[in-house]
Amino acid sequence: MSTASAHSKIFILDFGSQYTQVIARRIRECQVYSEIVRFDIPAAEVAAARPNGIVLSGGPSSVYEDDAPQIDPEIFSLGIPVLGICYGMQLIAQHLGGRVEYSARREYGPSMLHIAPGSRLFEGIGEQLDIWNSHGDKVSELPPAFRAAAHTENSPYAAIEEPAKHLYGLQFHPEVAHTPRGKEIIQNFVYGICHCAMDWTMGSFIDDACARVRRQVGEEKVVLGLSGGVDSSVVAALLHKAIGDQLTCIFVNNGLLREREEEMVQRVFGANFHIKLKYVDASERFLSKLRGITDPEQKRKLIGNEFIDVFQHATAELLEEDRAAGVEGHSYRFLAQGTLYPDVIESVAIGGNPAHVIKSHHNVGGLPEKMHFELVEPVRQLFKDEVRDAGLQLGLPKEIVYRQPFPGPGLAVRILGEVTDERLRILREADTIVVSEMKASDWYYRVWQSFAVLLPVRSVGVMGDQRTYENTIAIRVVESQDGMTADWVRLPYELLARISTRVINEVKGVNRVCYDISSKPPSTIEWE
Ligand code: XMP
Repeated sequence: MSTASAHSKIFILDFGSQYTQVIARRIRECQVYSEIVRFDIPAAEVAAARPNGIVLSGGPSSVYEDDAPQIDPEIFSLGIPVLGICYGMQLIAQHLGGRVEYSARREYGPSMLHIAPGSRLFEGIGEQLDIWNSHGDKVSELPPAFRAAAHTENSPYAAIEEPAKHLYGLQFHPEVAHTPRGKEIIQNFVYGICHCAMDWTMGSFIDDACARVRRQVGEEKVVLGLSGGVDSSVVAALLHKAIGDQLTCIFVNNGLLREREEEMVQRVFGANFHIKLKYVDASERFLSKLRGITDPEQKRKLIGNEFIDVFQHATAELLEEDRAAGVEGHSYRFLAQGTLYPDVIESVAIGGNPAHVIKSHHNVGGLPEKMHFELVEPVRQLFKDEVRDAGLQLGLPKEIVYRQPFPGPGLAVRILGEVTDERLRILREADTIVVSEMKASDWYYRVWQSFAVLLPVRSVGVMGDQRTYENTIAIRVVESQDGMTADWVRLPYELLARISTRVINEVKGVNRVCYDISSKPPSTIEWE
């Protein structure tokens, strides 16, 4: 397992609930490390990893279906406290001699929980609690030795427990915001029942991560493709702390960056952080390859392939430079990546064989396979907001830590049609106005993304006494949790008006501004 065993930790067995990651987040908010593992993890593996407690997540199946995901029942005999949530509670009931039935009255949404006195899980909570349900099945008969710790109008067994064996079950979801005091239940479980210490702090994570990286790479050298985005920036700062000059960052200017992006990255990482930074200006090369190309997929592919070539060439140059400077020895064996926890959690396909799906990290896709690097992924245990915390602790400026996402292919996917110098100029100037107005009005950090798109459309306008026939800029501002779904932001009209006026007045070649009011799905966030 990936964490130092001295730390407290909770395992979450994932039975496919949409809330599994939320449970993990809630436990980490208690400053206790949590790790999502597959639902069919063998009991022996759990015993060897010695978590302080186990949470069984909810899931979409019914425990009595033939292909329902099952737990290794030996886990209930390890003496490790278990908290089953929804489907997890039904598993406890089913395996330990109770009964689970289809419920005629499906409970979905809010309800009131009535708590029996004396349960450690509900300590300090009182007699009643607002809760959030989302279940069809329910426990109709308790397993022997269990008792009801709480009930609702519809279910006599909304919470069950066998305290002597440290087994607990909740029919509702304590991890969601609609169960307002759910966090206290989770705290009671992790501190009161599992006796976890509050030892998962960003400071301790950074120390552990540095130690792990040093163990992994020894004296060898590491390269990192620095994009200036949050993840690779945090990895750069972390690795610099861990291994200093053994790290070299390569920053590729592909000619598709935002205004003064390359200056900012060089200032923050080179001048302030004193990180070894190789700046490669490959803009000519990218832009000449892009000439005449209008198909979105072709653009993306071309940029991706070109990046790999440039990166490869840059690492070869680094080696040459080292040799010329008389630096002995090692080649660049390791490639660091800003892979995050949601990218590595194996998703569970319920209803058939569980799929070992690992989402690919598209930022530097293809690099490791083509170049035979070994990967260093020091933040692969972290959620995005934890990466931001780490960045702040490592001294990165807020402008980097709270940056909005920016696609790898850069402005090329925001220029519909051909990418030319002139069209890049127009988009860059318009984008700079959007970002500066979003920042000035305090909206920038409240949204997921806010940017300009240059459309392949010209329209008629009038400026002064002149008829114009110029370009159209679309403004895209969305809110989102993870980029998978998104909605357009209802920005104040005054702000939209200011952006529009400034873009039309200040950006030569634009006479019309539109606001994109499509959600994802069915639209995507980027236009290409
Ligand atoms: P879409 O447009 O698919 O975007 O709704 C979802 C999120 O992903 C970002 N995005 C990318 N990020 N390389 C990246 O690193 C890419 O090729 C890429 N394409 C889209 C997009 O900005 C949004 O946040």
